[in-house]
Amino acid sequence: MTRIRTQVGIVGAGPAGLLLGHLLHLRGIDSVIVENRSRDYVIERVRAGVLEHGTVELLIRAGVGVRLEREGMRHAGVYFAFNGMRHRIDFEELAGRSITIYGQNEIVKDLIAARCAAGRPLYFEAADVAVSGFEDGAPLIRFRCQDQDHEVACDFIAGCDGFHGVCRESLPAQSWRGYEREYPFAWLGILAHAAPSSDELVYALHERGFALFSMRSHSITRLYLQCAPDESIENWSDERIWDELIARFQSADGWRPNRGEIVQKGITGMRSFVAEPMRCGRLFLAGDAAHIVPPTGAKGLNLAAADVCLLARAFESWYAGNRENLLNAYSDTALHRVWRAQRFACWMTSMFHRMPDGNEFDCRRQIAELDYVTGSRSAMTSVAENYTGFPL
Ligand code: PHB
Repeated sequence: MTRIRTQVGIVGAGPAGLLLGHLLHLRGIDSVIVENRSRDYVIERVRAGVLEHGTVELLIRAGVGVRLEREGMRHAGVYFAFNGMRHRIDFEELAGRSITIYGQNEIVKDLIAARCAAGRPLYFEAADVAVSGFEDGAPLIRFRCQDQDHEVACDFIAGCDGFHGVCRESLPAQSWRGYEREYPFAWLGILAHAAPSSDELVYALHERGFALFSMRSHSITRLYLQCAPDESIENWSDERIWDELIARFQSADGWRPNRGEIVQKGITGMRSFVAEPMRCGRLFLAGDAAHIVPPTGAKGLNLAAADVCLLARAFESWYAGNRENLLNAYSDTALHRVWRAQRFACWMTSMFHRMPDGNEFDCRRQIAELDYVTGSRSAMTSVAENYTGFPL
């Protein structure tokens, strides 16, 4: 048995856990990060890719933005497509901010490099991770790694271990409440070796369902299709995926995505979920462990970054002697942003997806909504400020 002592024990080495560890390191606060997956898994897992203005600034200020500034693709706007037409919303003109496309797994790579350079502990492939003692002021993380039992005694635990992690599961049932909505559809996502045919993202409503055009680099396109929640990826040959994408993006100006070799494909379900409060005693939840947003608003990763930014400041203030103030405010402050993002993501989702039991009325209403949203300067400003994100 190995016993370690640290200030903040962090469960999960996704973007939330790694960024928190780094922000704490910059403040001279020690942490131990424990992750049940392998290093390769967290680095290679392709996830979100849209960074709000504030997330980019946070990463740059924290000194982990060198590659992001070099390789990230800055987008000054977005396209909403419907009725065979693309309509542009100009973020810079309307909100004075832009977004940056940079894969979540690239951020994870950069943060792991920073962690290694800082020389602070990071355990991958930790089995049987368990958290305890956070209600009695003696938080403890236990796990097994390379046939060794480990115990990390800490002042606080940060639960950054995602929606299916052990931290939220370990909270006493009466200490929190979950608010949830499931959606009757999923996204089929692909990564293709194809040059992006648009400089900016395209969100499309089509009678066959939603489609989204995104990218990861000048040679890699990322695309998504609305599909049934129980759809099997085996039913989708590459040919069928391309035909469906081309059909849904069909545009009077002739725009369409470039075809290319599909190098990855998968289906992800959609849900909205919020756990309240995001704290129990000395355990604080951050990122997907506390909330899930449907991906249509591109907010998941940005919310995780916002949570740990607050949490790092709160721990800093606690160790500086201003004991509980910011820690007590953490949950309410974080939830304010979470519900705002939840609202935006739900709204984007309902505007762009065909409901399986929807009727012609719903379709007409969605078209009317998109027509208004792309025609009114006030409505476009609202999209621009929500999409590019509010200051941290
Ligand atoms: C992505 O690039 O993976 C992406 C972009 C926008 C979204 C969701 C995902 O709303």
